[in-house]
Amino acid sequence: MRKKIIAANWKMHMTQSESEAFITTFLREIGDLDEIEIVILPPFTAIPKVTELLTQTQNIKVGAQNMHWERSGAFTGEISPPMLRDLFVRYVVLGHSERRAMFCETDEIVNRKVRAAYEQNLRPILCVGETLAERERGEVEKVLSTQLRGSLANVEARELLETVVAYEPVWAIGTGKTATADQAQEAHAFVRQLLREISDDATAEKVRIQYGGSVKPENARQLLSQPDIDGALVGGASLDPRSFAQIVQAGVPND
Ligand code: PGA
Repeated sequence: MRKKIIAANWKMHMTQSESEAFITTFLREIGDLDEIEIVILPPFTAIPKVTELLTQTQNIKVGAQNMHWERSGAFTGEISPPMLRDLFVRYVVLGHSERRAMFCETDEIVNRKVRAAYEQNLRPILCVGETLAERERGEVEKVLSTQLRGSLANVEARELLETVVAYEPVWAIGTGKTATADQAQEAHAFVRQLLREISDDATAEKVRIQYGGSVKPENARQLLSQPDIDGALVGGASLDPRSFAQIVQAGVPND
């Protein structure tokens, strides 16, 4: 059984005081729910505050939205893996489509970051997904294969077990257009098949694959009940503590 993992990608939102207000309300809303692993991904500047507020909780982890692959050096404006470890960060989002599109991140760069994450015991949330034009050209499988194989080059099975893959169709991010549960399940099953080819059956069965792209309280339950959807990476709807809590609650198995 893969434990579901639901993450709040705050992107470039939330000051320290806004984060504090969010966490206070969110903790009240979810109570002692522990069936789901929850990850909060604040901007770098709010990480220490969020970590401090979550010290008493077990199943809520803190992650970062990006990092550089080098340990240190003349890279003005960048943040390194050891710096994140120093803040008790556990997860790091890598290869988000916004970084691929706006900050020119290639699969090779993402691969360097993924391998740097393992070296520092950080768990990557590796994002892959096709654009609308690529979907319309029938290239979904080609794009997912290229991105996944490129980003995971020279990664060992034991490292893959530490990895979360996020399937995020670019056309569904921040647009209000969600992939249907069937479309998402089909892509997730394909990603799992790729993971089998990259590693082995047993490893691929254990890797969690999140769906991301306009996840909301209204569509979360249907998406999260698909056999290969093991969680969600939530942007817009994660900025409101009540709606994020509802999404997390939608992931709790019924029985
Ligand atoms: P969205 O963003 O939920 O606002 O579509 C998801 C993401 O980019 O991770």
